[in-house]
Amino acid sequence: MTASWSKESWRNFTVHQSPVYEDAAALAGVTDKLASFPPLVFAGEARTLKQRLAAASKGEAFLLQGGDCAEAFADFRANAVRDTFRVLLQMAVVLTWGAKKPVIKVGRMAGQFAKPRSAPTETIGGVELPSYRGDIINDLPFTAEARRPKPEKMLEAYTQSAATLNLLRAFSKGGYADMRRVSEWNLDFAAGEGAEDYRRIAERVSDALDFMQACGVGTTEAPALHEVDFFTSHEALLLDYEQALTRVDSTTGQTLAGSAHMLWIGDRTRQLDGAHVEYCRGVINPIGLKCGPSLKPDELIQLIDKLNPENEPGRLTLIGRFGAGKTQEHLPSLVRRVQAEGRAVVWCCDPMHGNTIKAENGYKTRPFERILQEVREFFDICRAENAQPGGAHIEMTGADVTECLGGLQDLKAANLSDRYHTACDPRLNASQSLELAFLLAEEFEEIAQAAKAERSRARLAAAS
Ligand code: PEP
Ligand code: CO
Repeated sequence: MTASWSKESWRNFTVHQSPVYEDAAALAGVTDKLASFPPLVFAGEARTLKQRLAAASKGEAFLLQGGDCAEAFADFRANAVRDTFRVLLQMAVVLTWGAKKPVIKVGRMAGQFAKPRSAPTETIGGVELPSYRGDIINDLPFTAEARRPKPEKMLEAYTQSAATLNLLRAFSKGGYADMRRVSEWNLDFAAGEGAEDYRRIAERVSDALDFMQACGVGTTEAPALHEVDFFTSHEALLLDYEQALTRVDSTTGQTLAGSAHMLWIGDRTRQLDGAHVEYCRGVINPIGLKCGPSLKPDELIQLIDKLNPENEPGRLTLIGRFGAGKTQEHLPSLVRRVQAEGRAVVWCCDPMHGNTIKAENGYKTRPFERILQEVREFFDICRAENAQPGGAHIEMTGADVTECLGGLQDLKAANLSDRYHTACDPRLNASQSLELAFLLAEEFEEIAQAAKAERSRARLAAAS
């Protein structure tokens, strides 16, 4: 590491997207308390995730990262955590089948509370107030008191994260993740026309599970199909909180961000000389870096130099979020440069954040078609550039919300108001999420078929 790093060295850099706390003593009281609490995750777990991501960087695994745009204190229920967890596992089953490789399951859960905003303030009816920045910072209602950043909200975020993680650990290891149960998915959405391919895949997945069970895989003695490893992640935005949960691993002396297994740096806070890059470069966790249309290849290499100077596989996941129709303009030059420099990264696609629009009735939404299109563009470019499509990063929920347009349910703008619950960005609902997983599986099938055709061409050429 070049310049010396400490868990507070980020304070010497510009902190973008930061709340201004009025009461420094109250802030210090909260962060001192957090610093005395146990970490939420442990170094060994972060190292395990890093090893799995190293496999994804080589095309030997696939990352599925998903969950809320912003978790909300008011929506905290065991059933909500369970439903999102279940849909993520269902997506993972479909993807495992399609990709024929292990799927690394990472939730945007148990800590995804802080939000970057396009403007620091919001004006309604001539009144200007600070923007809502997520439940760890302030509150959504449009009043001066609600929008005031309150440090004590960090304690509630810690508590909710700990309780969510406790449930996730129980669901992962306590039988809830049993493959047979996971695959009892609700395919109602795929009952009609246009979904024949999904039903065919679902049947083949069920057949494969039957076969494995007949072989004795997934019995209590061989728990591979009963348990899963599930990891947590969030955007490392609120650095006062991240610093307070930073811990030194007693066995290795390495520094860990104790708030989640994986952290990512948002597209608005990835400045080379910014505080967020500074904090993240010093912790051993796997790090994600959002790559939007303004990121240039030179800058990306400089960021990689800072975030992964040892070129450690699994350390860095590059999460492209360009928008449907814009991927071709931006992604190939980044991929080529990273490959030319020999940097080990996981290429991941976030098809959500470049595809947000305002519906005619004012709702912030995302058309499912555009999400699918960006995913297809990502796969096509990876194929053309001979790079591994290593992951998908998705805003979704297990609930039956009406926030994104389209999908087989054909959600229309007029339906958005039915169950529009997000406090921030629109999420895929359970059906749309599963539908996306089927599409990803199809993309992998195409890759496998292309590889097969290539092999037989090569065999023919060799024989002639
Ligand atoms: C997000 O992931 O919720 C987000 C704000 O993304 P981005 O930084 O890519 O805009
Ligand atoms: Co979002």
